Amino acid sequence: MNALRTRTVPVALGARSYDIEIGAGLLPEAGAHLAPLFRRPRTVIVSDETVAALHLETLRAGLARAGIESEAIVVPAGEKSKSWPVLERVVEALLAAKVERDDTVIALGGGVIGDLAGFACAVLRRGVAFVQIPTSLLAQVDSSVGGKTGINSPLGKNLIGAFHQPCHVLIDIDVLDTLSGREFLAGYGEVVKYGLLGDAGFFDWLVEAGPRLKSGDKALRIEAVERSVAAKAGIVSRDEKEHGERALLNLGHTFGHALEAATGYSDRLLHGEGVAIGMGLAFALSARLGLCSQETPSRIAEHFAAMGLKRSLADIPGDLPGADDLLALMAQDKKVSGGVLAFILARGIGEAFVSRDVPPEAVTAVLEEALRTRSSIPSA
Ligand code: GLY
Repeated sequence: MNALRTRTVPVALGARSYDIEIGAGLLPEAGAHLAPLFRRPRTVIVSDETVAALHLETLRAGLARAGIESEAIVVPAGEKSKSWPVLERVVEALLAAKVERDDTVIALGGGVIGDLAGFACAVLRRGVAFVQIPTSLLAQVDSSVGGKTGINSPLGKNLIGAFHQPCHVLIDIDVLDTLSGREFLAGYGEVVKYGLLGDAGFFDWLVEAGPRLKSGDKALRIEAVERSVAAKAGIVSRDEKEHGERALLNLGHTFGHALEAATGYSDRLLHGEGVAIGMGLAFALSARLGLCSQETPSRIAEHFAAMGLKRSLADIPGDLPGADDLLALMAQDKKVSGGVLAFILARGIGEAFVSRDVPPEAVTAVLEEALRTRSSIPSA
């Protein structure tokens, strides 16, 4: 049996169901995989400058081999492209490229491109189909699946958007070879999230397989991505619009978003790193509230340390605000409802749940403890 055979994970959403294909070498074969989705043999690809330089020609050649003509809209790389001006540019360029109501657009890139192109497709002609071809590990295991699309407001991240499901997700594991080690690890934090929130066996598997997965074992990478997207597909098909269970996917994000805001959404802390540290803090909070054992946060920190992933506030360079300011940043989170902040807590690894009655003093105490530990570690 070929260990690198392509896997298919279905996302069951009635008329909006779609498949996620995961394998090696899929980008050069994209035309064969995607041709059945196109009403006519032409498409427009939305990408960013960094990804386009690495993968656009491979994709276009792959499409051309199946007789599909393509043109590309390329925007600057980075979070700043999730903005009204860039959205306007993309929508107008899609119209200028004569994308019709029944055409299918391709989003080729990481989370920023998936969110931006997906939102452009959501509003273009009241909804045009699109394919996600995610090129970062984070986008492969999280943002390309589930139909969350949108841009940022000066008042906060992802505050403007729509649910618009892709019609297919094509995941080529080979593109991960072009990521920096740091970017790969930041995405790996989101892989671990699926173990921590609902599958203790997957966490144990990652503890064992993680180092080989990091050093490039493709069969293990395919398996990790398949298990992650299968977990996400299950959650999304049960709770597409996040009225309940889908909120579990925000494990670590309330703390993580506050840390990202405190570090100015800069290179000091990547999103996945903030989530990894945030997950550690969510488990520390759970332990403080007597929900899980004191050893549980240490087990998680040990795995992150073994992988070389940021795991505590001590791993964030530069100054950080105090606990009260971090708590104030959390209060701006979009998970606030009726003035009450939702936290994802856990009774153990794989046993996460949503709580809306966390005492703010407990959160402050966890942050103060984490900040104290940070200041007791001499900076390099
Ligand atoms: N990234 C969290 C979600 O898709 O719900």
